[in-house]
Amino acid sequence: MTYEFLKTEKQEKTLIVTISRPSALNALNLALIKELDALIDHIKEDDSIYSVIFTGEGKSFVAGADIGEMSVLNGMEGKAWGEFGLKVFRKLETLPQPTIAAVNGFALGGGCELAMACDIRIASDKAKFGQPEVGLGITPGFGGTQRLAKLVGVAKAKEIIFTATMITAAEAVSIGLVNKVTTPEILLEEALTMAAQINRNGQIAVRLSKRAIDAGLETDIETGGAIEAAMFGLCFSTEDQKEAMRAFLNKEAPTFKNK
Ligand code: HXC
Repeated sequence: MTYEFLKTEKQEKTLIVTISRPSALNALNLALIKELDALIDHIKEDDSIYSVIFTGEGKSFVAGADIGEMSVLNGMEGKAWGEFGLKVFRKLETLPQPTIAAVNGFALGGGCELAMACDIRIASDKAKFGQPEVGLGITPGFGGTQRLAKLVGVAKAKEIIFTATMITAAEAVSIGLVNKVTTPEILLEEALTMAAQINRNGQIAVRLSKRAIDAGLETDIETGGAIEAAMFGLCFSTEDQKEAMRAFLNKEAPTFKNK
């Protein structure tokens, strides 16, 4: 598959996706979101991809949705644009594979929302995060009002959204928006190292863990526990569980077949 605004590179079991529209700081126009939609469909079906890293080309991760395109929308078109982005980001969030945002620069508006739809965020110390929408007379529209509050708490989310100010990577890590901060030079390497740590485990168990965590966040502890028990039980019907526990007891490394 070829894309105008996305570059893909497979390193071992990890797909690196680089968002590439550097002339507009990788702002998300309709064509770019359509490409993301198609790529996510492809990733979902490709079992040779164990994990995915999203990053941006140049000095920006993603500087938001394209303001030029949005400037002429009417109410119905605005709603449709928001719904389309929400659908694509939800599809990203619910990919079976773990996803890592390697945030190399500006992650603003739709860019911050894209990073938040990933499972894990690693940021360069040059990265800046923010939801500047209210400064443009709009609300966040690709999930920012929902995911930011879940990640950093209601009060901090309201502060970030109401003030429309940018925060540094150091602040982002201190409020739990970002998992870790590195220098720009080793950002991708750090993301790849984390991806490799994920990739060497039983992928059925990794994917079921992701499902249990995400489903549990949407429900009460009793239901969440029931989901966990179901996922946990399912693992005992896999060859991987038998192999990994056999290998441990024999002081060997396991060979996972993802079966
Ligand atoms: C369209 C954008 C853009 C955007 C940057 N550019 N962000 N174009 N949409 N979101 C373009 C600029 O117009 C400029 O084009 C080029 O990229 C370089 O940007 P500069 O502003 O010259 O760079 P710099 O001075 O370094 O400032 C960087 C910046 C600033 C602070 C990130 O570009 C900025 O504030 N961008 C907008 C950020 C923002 O408000 N994002 C939220 C959008 S709303 P030219 O042609 O002049 O070189 C959103 C809603 C999501 O995301 C939900 C929708 C439903």
